[in-house]
Amino acid sequence: MRRVVGEDGIREAAALLCAGGIVAFPTETVYGLGADALSDTAVRRIFAAKGRPSDNPLIVHVADQEGARRLARRWSDLAERLAARFWPGPLTLVVPARPEVASAARAGLDTVGVRCPNHPLALRLLRAAALPLAAPSANRSGRPSPTTAEAVLEDLAGADGLVLDGGPSGIGVESTVVDVSTGMPVLLRPGGLGREELEVVAGPLLSVGDGAGAPRAPGMKYRHYAPTLPVRLLRLQPEAAIEMIRTHFDPADTAVLAATAVRQALTAYRGVDLGPDADSAAAGLFEGLRRLEREPGLVRIVAVWSETRGRGLAVMNRLEKAAGEGHHV
Ligand code: TXA
Ligand code: MG
Repeated sequence: MRRVVGEDGIREAAALLCAGGIVAFPTETVYGLGADALSDTAVRRIFAAKGRPSDNPLIVHVADQEGARRLARRWSDLAERLAARFWPGPLTLVVPARPEVASAARAGLDTVGVRCPNHPLALRLLRAAALPLAAPSANRSGRPSPTTAEAVLEDLAGADGLVLDGGPSGIGVESTVVDVSTGMPVLLRPGGLGREELEVVAGPLLSVGDGAGAPRAPGMKYRHYAPTLPVRLLRLQPEAAIEMIRTHFDPADTAVLAATAVRQALTAYRGVDLGPDADSAAAGLFEGLRRLEREPGLVRIVAVWSETRGRGLAVMNRLEKAAGEGHHV
């Protein structure tokens, strides 16, 4: 992959996308690896570059609600209201798909996940290419999602394509995915948009695991992040976590990934300070995991997290996956 920037970068990237190539680009959540969502050949290049299982569908990015309607076989009143309220932003809507959407992008399903990203470079790229762009997170399959162009290059340097460098992604966890293709909206993946905010518009959401959503969420069966270091997740309040770590873990081989209140009490340990709240934790989580994997001499990461409001739910979900909980394959 070659790094490009600015207006010239956007022009070159758009031309490559129109020719069926792949381009990594910044969004407000994480970097995506994009290709023409109407071309099976182009979309297959994404799966090949990432090493992604072909039965896990991709999110298709559009410049506006009009672009989403062109991909949807049915655009419900709920889809309309959610898009009007939260786009551009970190919300993906799963809707019935028109057949023009590349089957590879849908993993053969009759639905498609669509979202309009809230990032000036992503929007300019979408308009310059004048194509819907299928784009999963731009990591090698099984690695933490990239929040910088450097992280994209760490994983995908050998792939044939471009990376449009727009600096760090602000939110740091992926979009919230909601299935609105049936009468009952289902939260398929917690993400950058908090569940509480969504429910103000959508009413109460079912969760995968309530039964209704399970077969419709193909990506959920994969362990999204398989760390090279084992992750132990402690769902504890600061005082209890600090006590537990001091008693049971050796500072020589254990790193602590936690919010400031815990980190500051454990300066003998290496680790990552996730900041004061769920937003700062989301922003620093994936980069923190990547950094700890490079630290010599560690045998484990102990993560401390208990907040499930707002972006806290997404942080908890990604840490559970990193700890190997709840995956089936
Ligand atoms: O923030 C994000 O969403 C980032 C940026 C690049 O936009 N993209 C991203 O894509 O996280 P990816 O491929 O890593 O995750 C897509 C998720 C997967 O869990 C997948 O299973 C689900 O969305 N998904 C996509 N299309 C779907 C569909 N038709 N039905 C059910 N789930 C779908
Ligand atoms: Mg991903």
